[in-house]
Amino acid sequence: MNCSGCHQAKDASDTLAWIKQPDHTVCTSCHKEEVEGFLTGLHGMRLKQGMTPMQPGMAEQPMKPSAGHAKLTCMSCHGAHRFDTRKAAVEACLTCHDDGHTRAYKASPHFGLWHEEISGRGAKGSGVSCATCHLPRVEFTTPEDETRVLVQHNQNDNLRPNEKMVRSVCMNCHGLQFSLDALADGKLIGRNFKGMPAKQIESIRMALEAEKRGAARKAVGDTDETEE
Ligand code: HEC
Ligand code: HEC
Ligand code: HEC
Ligand code: HEC
Ligand code: HEC
Ligand code: HEC
Repeated sequence: MNCSGCHQAKDASDTLAWIKQPDHTVCTSCHKEEVEGFLTGLHGMRLKQGMTPMQPGMAEQPMKPSAGHAKLTCMSCHGAHRFDTRKAAVEACLTCHDDGHTRAYKASPHFGLWHEEISGRGAKGSGVSCATCHLPRVEFTTPEDETRVLVQHNQNDNLRPNEKMVRSVCMNCHGLQFSLDALADGKLIGRNFKGMPAKQIESIRMALEAEKRGAARKAVGDTDETEE
């Protein structure tokens, strides 16, 4: 891709001009789904409404004071010319976010796995970055009716209720019961999933046991039929 792909557009007099500082609108022609997702979540919502970009200084959640005036655009995570998605998945987030859950991440086994992956020792997809949970890869149907796996850039899409993360994220690696128990444990979320869930959710355990009993009865029934 050459410079004009992002830096050139027609100006008011319909002649091609060099855009000094391209914004997210130039990305739309090639990355429509990513731009739409970004504009729908809290990161890009202000831009969608025609306001100035979101800034950490405006946030309710704890942010790094050094990032107070940073402007949230595609370039906050991707940089202008180095589109390094690994850096975008953890290090970029840490330039702004500064709550307990975020600060705890690097002490979690999930970060250990991510570290292994990016240093080339772990298999691709075996690590769990901030983006694995908050900007997961999901299936999109493009306007041409094709199904493509792209990054969901709306970080609010699976955030509340957090059980939305179970299928799109956790169950790629964990079972249903374990995932639900972990997501029901607020303290464990605070430690960014370092440690085991404190308790089992009763209703789920009972439902799973009922299902097992049902399956066992069915198996017995099947045997009876074959004997007859
Ligand atoms: C994928 C889109 C894209 C492509 C391709 C691209 N740029 Fe950029 N460029 C950007 C963005 C985005 C910015 C930063 C805008 C900002 O600072 O907000 C930028 C910034 C710049 C700047 C200003 C740098 C600064 O520090 O203020 C220059 C100069 C520049 N680009 C030159 C080029 C040249 C030359 C090429 C081709 C070799 C090129 N760009 C290709 C997206 C692109
Ligand atoms: C003219 C088309 C075009 C434009 C405009 C464009 N891109 Fe891309 N971009 C591509 C293609 C092609 C790829 C590589 C194939 C893919 O991953 O879909 C790519 C890949 C990427 C990647 C993934 C890199 C990786 O390592 O996987 C990122 C991130 C990205 N672009 C961001 C941007 C941003 C941000 C803008 C706007 C400033 C932009 N692009 C503008 C065509 C474009
Ligand atoms: C909050 C950080 C963040 C922002 C803001 C962000 N991205 Fe991304 N983006 C990521 C991460 C992280 C990945 C890679 C995730 C992965 O590899 O699983 C990614 C991947 C991509 C990819 C390649 C994967 C795909 O979906 O094809 C493209 C293209 C892309 N981003 C475009 C954009 C555009 C365009 C914008 C602005 C509208 C933008 N991004 C804003 C974090 C961000
Ligand atoms: C340039 C600073 C910046 C970067 C980089 C950034 N964020 Fe954010 N993020 C914010 C701000 C500001 C908000 C709005 C918070 C508020 O209003 O309290 C936000 C909101 C969020 C929320 C929604 C919180 C909620 O309660 O709705 C999540 C989740 C989130 N970011 C995750 C991430 C992840 C994951 C990354 C990296 C892939 C990332 N952010 C990168 C500044 C940033
Ligand atoms: C294993 C999945 C997972 C990982 C990894 C992860 N998070 Fe989260 N994150 C969650 C869950 C679950 C919540 C809680 C949602 C809820 O219950 O409201 C959350 C909440 C948040 C919030 C909102 C806090 C609030 O008070 O509303 C932010 C911001 C955030 N995470 C950022 C990050 C950043 C930055 C990283 C990486 C340093 C990260 N997360 C790593 C799963 C994860
Ligand atoms: C890409 C795979 C993957 C995804 C996705 C994933 N995990 Fe994990 N997680 C693991 C692996 C592997 C371990 C075990 C790491 C170890 O013991 O070193 C683990 C460990 C854990 C632990 C135990 C930590 C400890 O200290 O022993 C909890 C709790 C956990 N994950 C919760 C979650 C939740 C909740 C989600 C979804 C929001 C999730 N995980 C998503 C792979 C994943």
